[in-house]
Formats: sequence, structure tokens, C-alpha cells
Amino acid sequence: MSGKCSTYLKCVLCMVLVQVIWQSSWHIYQAPNQRIKTRQTKTHLLILSSWRSGSSFVGQLFNQNPDVFYLIEPAWHVWNRLPQETPELLHLPVRDLIRSIFLCDMSAFKPYMSTSKYIGNLFLWHESRALCSSLVCPNSTLKDFINRTECGKKCGTVPFKKLEDACRNYSHVVVKAVRILNLEVLYPLLKDPSLNLKIIHLVRDPRAILSSRESFGYLNSDDVIVSKAQRSTSNISVVMEEICKAQVQIYKLASLNSQPFLKNRYIMVRYEDLVRSPVDHTTELYDYIGLTVTTKFKSWTYNVSHGLIPNDKDLMPFSEDSVKVAQQWREKLHFSKVKQVQKLCKQEMEVFGYQLIESEREQKNMSLDLLLPKPDKFEWIT
Ligand SMILES: *[C@@H]1O[C@H](CO)[C@@H](O)[C@H](O)[C@H]1NC(C)=O
Ligand SMILES: *[C@@H]1O[C@H](CO)[C@@H](O)[C@H](O)[C@H]1NC(C)=O
Ligand SMILES: *[C@@H]1O[C@H](CO)[C@@H](O)[C@H](O)[C@H]1NC(C)=O
Ligand SMILES: *[C@@H]1O[C@H](CO)[C@@H](O)[C@H](O)[C@H]1NC(C)=O
Ligand SMILES: *[C@@H]1O[C@H](CO)[C@@H](O)[C@H](O)[C@H]1NC(C)=O
Ligand SMILES: *[C@@H]1O[C@H](CO)[C@@H](O)[C@H](O)[C@H]1NC(C)=O
Repeated sequence: MSGKCSTYLKCVLCMVLVQVIWQSSWHIYQAPNQRIKTRQTKTHLLILSSWRSGSSFVGQLFNQNPDVFYLIEPAWHVWNRLPQETPELLHLPVRDLIRSIFLCDMSAFKPYMSTSKYIGNLFLWHESRALCSSLVCPNSTLKDFINRTECGKKCGTVPFKKLEDACRNYSHVVVKAVRILNLEVLYPLLKDPSLNLKIIHLVRDPRAILSSRESFGYLNSDDVIVSKAQRSTSNISVVMEEICKAQVQIYKLASLNSQPFLKNRYIMVRYEDLVRSPVDHTTELYDYIGLTVTTKFKSWTYNVSHGLIPNDKDLMPFSEDSVKVAQQWREKLHFSKVKQVQKLCKQEMEVFGYQLIESEREQKNMSLDLLLPKPDKFEWIT
């Protein structure tokens, strides 16, 4: 039974790989003017992060902009479809899917979905402002900011193919991904003349990540896959180690060994800095991808990061006092686990400037700031 199953999976995988190769060669032989046409007319942003690092929050900062077409975690479909595989192998279909999304070719989702009839078949589709807008969904009553419940009720049965028309209408396509644990896998996208890719690499204190994971129950199948990187069964130590290692690898490749094609295309952000001055950081990030912040948006950003927007489950459940949330692990995480994660993620903490602690007293002493200055070279912008 399991033999049959793995043969089947190999077949699926083979088909996927063939498709990847076929598609990439097809693109190479496409008429060059088609590529030139798309060049620079759109900006593509990848929010590259790991689980429980504040990437949904950062994604929303872009999602709320009317010039942005946003999709949250398309790679979920790939991981969900091929749960037996390793993260390393899954990088290739994930990358290809993201590339297709950036080019508004949504047919690339189909191999990973059991049905793709409606936009409602897409993972977390109602997070996306663009999919809840009246252009896509005639029944929508969307005003400034989305109401997910409302969107869920009214827009789920919009035909899937409308995704493509919608995507083409926006100047910015933004994708958030936590399932990419390597930067090199993205090099072909950075060099691709049909894309104008920018990366925001979002990192967070691994002690906060671990603490947040403990109160979030949906990561089991992801943990199984991540643990395969060390040929282990699902194991939180392995998962944390792999996540931390990946963040260091990504940052080091981007900032220390800079490749020319990364110039102006990579910026690293620490979640803790972002929440301490959300409006300034958001303005900087908007500037990086060529969007401007309006006064209203500044006010919204301030409100959403200070818990000033009613924390209705339907609307902005992430509206909270973000500085407090960033520190929550200091109250919640058991000190033995703090020690354990500090050991597993020592290098990451040094690289990104998260102060190690030696006692529970330090952990609970809130006048002790554990955020060190940002590393010297924290962005590839000249
Ligand atoms: C969102 O929509 C739901 C369903 O239409 C409604 O009950 C709820 O009050 C709305 N929430 C807000 C904050 O407008
Ligand atoms: C929009 O509303 C109309 C009338 O209520 C309904 O018949 C139609 O199915 C709705 N469209 C979608 C995509 O839900
Ligand atoms: C795209 O834009 C065109 C022109 O502005 C408009 O007619 C069309 O309805 C839009 N379509 C979608 C799905 O946004
Ligand atoms: C998880 O892996 C670590 C080594 O990385 C090992 O010491 C530990 O026993 C494992 N835990 C479980 C529950 O398998
Ligand atoms: C932010 O909150 C203030 C005070 O509650 C309110 O006056 C303002 O309208 C809010 N801004 C937005 C965009 O929601
Ligand atoms: C907490 O940290 C501050 C700043 O380092 C220090 O002055 C203070 O003595 C500490 N308090 C306790 C109870 O350790």
C-alpha cells in the first residue's frame, strides 16, 4: 500500500517537474516583446518569512492598498498536495507557482487543488482585498478595509478564472510565503526579465516564534515536512533549528555575498523594529516598492498596531497592541524552553541582534530591552 502510494507520489512529482521544465523552456522561447511588455509595468513583492513571525500582519499592510493584488500563502497548496516530500524538493514547484502568480497565470494552481472552480477554493482567499473588491465580486460591499465574513459569504462562488483578470488590473502583485527556506532557489526569479521582484525578508525573535507556536494549533503537517530536512519525524527542536538556520542563510547570502541581481531587491526587517514604529517602517517599505502612503493609511496602520480598531473576528483580528504582543513570550514561554531555543538558534540570535538571557529573572524583567541594534549591514539598498 505504502509502496503504491509512494510510486503514485513520484509520478505526480515527475509530472510537476516536467511541467516546470517545460514551462521554463517555453518562456525562454517566447517572443521577447511579450516579456518587454510586462517588464516594469508591474512590481512583484515577495514577503519571505517563517511561521508565526508576523508575516500576516505585514501582508495586511500591503493588502489594504488599492493598488495591490495580494495572495497569502499560495505555497500552502503545494505543501498540502505533496505532504510526503522534503522542503528542499518542494522549493521548485513553490517557486514556479509564485512566478506564475506574479505573471497572473493562475492555471499553475490547478495541479495542487482538488477543485479550482471558484475563488473560494483558494486557501485563505478572503484575506485578499482584491478578491473581495467589487471589480471581482459584484455582490461585494467592500469599502476601505475588508470584512472577511462578509466577503466569505458573498464572493466565494466567483469563478476562479476571474483571478487572472483581477490580477492584471493591479500595479503591484504581493505574495507572502513562509515555506521558502532558502534564497538561492529564488535567484532565477530575481534574474527573470519578465519580473520586477522585490523581497522583504521578515525575521522575528525565535523565542517569540516558539511561544506563538504553542498557542497556535495548525502547524502539524508543516512540521512533518520541515523535520524531513533532517530525516526526522515531526520534532519541534528540528523545526526551530531549520527555521533559524534558513533565516541566517537567506540574510547572509543577500547581504554579505551580494549578487548584483539582488541590488535594490532585498530588504531585511525585524518584526520587533516594525512594531515599535509601524508607520515609519511601513512608509519605508512602501517607498521600497514604489507605493505611497496616504494620511488615512498611516492612521489605519497606527490604529491596527495599537489595538485601536475593534478586534472583531471578522475584521482585523490582528489589531492589537503589537509592541506588547512582540514581548508576550517573556511572560508565556517556560524558561527551560527559552534556554533550549537559544541553544538551537544561537547563531540566528547573534546575527539579527536578539539578546540571549541567562535567567528567568532577566526574562521577566521588562525594563531589560532584549532587542540589540540592527546588524550593520541590514539591507541591500544603495
Ligand atoms: C462583517 O460582516 C458580517 C456579516 O455580514 C457582519 O455581521 C459584521 O457586523 C461585519 N463586521 C463589521 C466590523 O462591519
Ligand atoms: C450575487 O447575488 C445574487 C443575488 O443574491 C446571487 O444570485 C448570486 O449567486 C451572487 N453571486 C455570487 C458570486 O455569489
Ligand atoms: C480591470 O480594469 C478594467 C479597466 O479599468 C475594467 O473594465 C475591468 O472591469 C477590471 N476588471 C477586474 C476584474 O478588475
Ligand atoms: C527531537 O530531536 C532532538 C535532536 O535534534 C532529540 O534530542 C529529541 O529527542 C527529539 N524529540 C523527539 C520527541 O523525538
Ligand atoms: C484611528 O483611530 C482614531 C481614534 O480612534 C480614529 O479617529 C480614526 O478614524 C482611525 N483611523 C482609521 C483609518 O481607522
Ligand atoms: C531589571 O533590569 C534593569 C535594567 O538592566 C536593572 O536596572 C534592574 O536592576 C533589573 N531588576 C531586577 C529585579 O533584576
